[in-house]
Amino acid sequence: MKILTFANPKGGAGKTVSSINFAYALSRLGYKTLLIDTDPRGGVSICLGMENENTLFDLIKEYNEGFVEDVEKYINHKNGVDVVISDYEIAKFDSYFDADTVSATFIMKNLVSEFFKEYDFIVIDTEGTVNSLTASILYATQDIFIPTQASNLDLTGVRDILGLSKNISRQNAELKIKKVFLIRAKMNTIAFKEFQNSLESFFDEQQFSKVAIRENQDIINAVNSQLDIFTYRNSSNGAIDYRNLVDEYIEELQKEI
Ligand SMILES: Nc1ncnc2c1ncn2[C@@H]1O[C@H](COP(=O)(O)OP(=O)(O)O)[C@@H](O)[C@H]1O
Ligand SMILES: [Mg+2]
Repeated sequence: MKILTFANPKGGAGKTVSSINFAYALSRLGYKTLLIDTDPRGGVSICLGMENENTLFDLIKEYNEGFVEDVEKYINHKNGVDVVISDYEIAKFDSYFDADTVSATFIMKNLVSEFFKEYDFIVIDTEGTVNSLTASILYATQDIFIPTQASNLDLTGVRDILGLSKNISRQNAELKIKKVFLIRAKMNTIAFKEFQNSLESFFDEQQFSKVAIRENQDIINAVNSQLDIFTYRNSSNGAIDYRNLVDEYIEELQKEI
C-alpha cells in the first residue's frame, strides 16, 4: 500500500482535480484505489456528485473512541474508485483532539492501516493548510505531490509545504516530495517555458515532473458533469496529461523495487 497526498496551501493550485484524476488513472491501470477527501470545503464530493452523511471526521471520532461498527458506510463507490468524503465538520479536528497531540498525530496513519490496508493506493486530497490535520496526514504519507500554477504567487504555497514536509520527515522517514508539477500550463508561451525552466533548475530532476497538465476546458467540463476526466472524455488533453503523470510515477515505483 502506498499513500499519496496532494498538498499545497494555495487555493486553486489544482489539488482536488489532480487527486481525483490521479486516483481514477491508477484505478484504470488495475490498482485498487481509495480516494480520501480531508478538505472542509468537500471538493471531492462536489466534483464527483456524492452525498453521504458519514464522513471522514465521523470515522476519525468513532475510531478514536474505540467503536467502529461498520466501516463500509463511509465508503462511496463510483466508476471503480472508492471514496471517503469530508465536509465542514472536519475543521473541528484541532479542537476535538485539543491537547492530545499524540492521538492527533497518529490517527490518520493508524486508521488507514487498520481499515484500508487492502488498497494498492490511497490518494488524499487536502486543504493543505499547515495545521495538525495536515501533519497527521503527512505522518501517514509516503509520497507528496505538489501541483502549482506557473506563477510566483502560487509558489509561496510550494515553499510552505516543503518546510512542513522537512519537519515531519524527521519522524516519518518514508515521507518524500515525490513530484512538483505544473497545472493549467500554456505550453506554447514564452512566459510558461521560462517559468518551467526556472522551476526545473530549482528542484532536482527526480522531484520535478516532466509532465505538465495543460490548460484544458474538458477538465472544467468534467468537474461540472461530476465525472473524472477519463469517463468524461478519454481522448482529451486533460486525460492524456493525467495518464502521463501517473505513468511517470508507476515507472519510477517499479525502478525503486
Ligand atoms: N488543467 C486545467 N485546465 C483548466 N482548468 C483547471 C485545470 N486544473 C484545474 N482547473 C480548475 O482550477 C480550479 C482550481 O482547481 P482545484 O483542483 O479545485 O484546486 P485546489 O483543490 O488546489 O483548490 C478549478 O475550478 C478547476 O476546474
Ligand atoms: Mg481543493
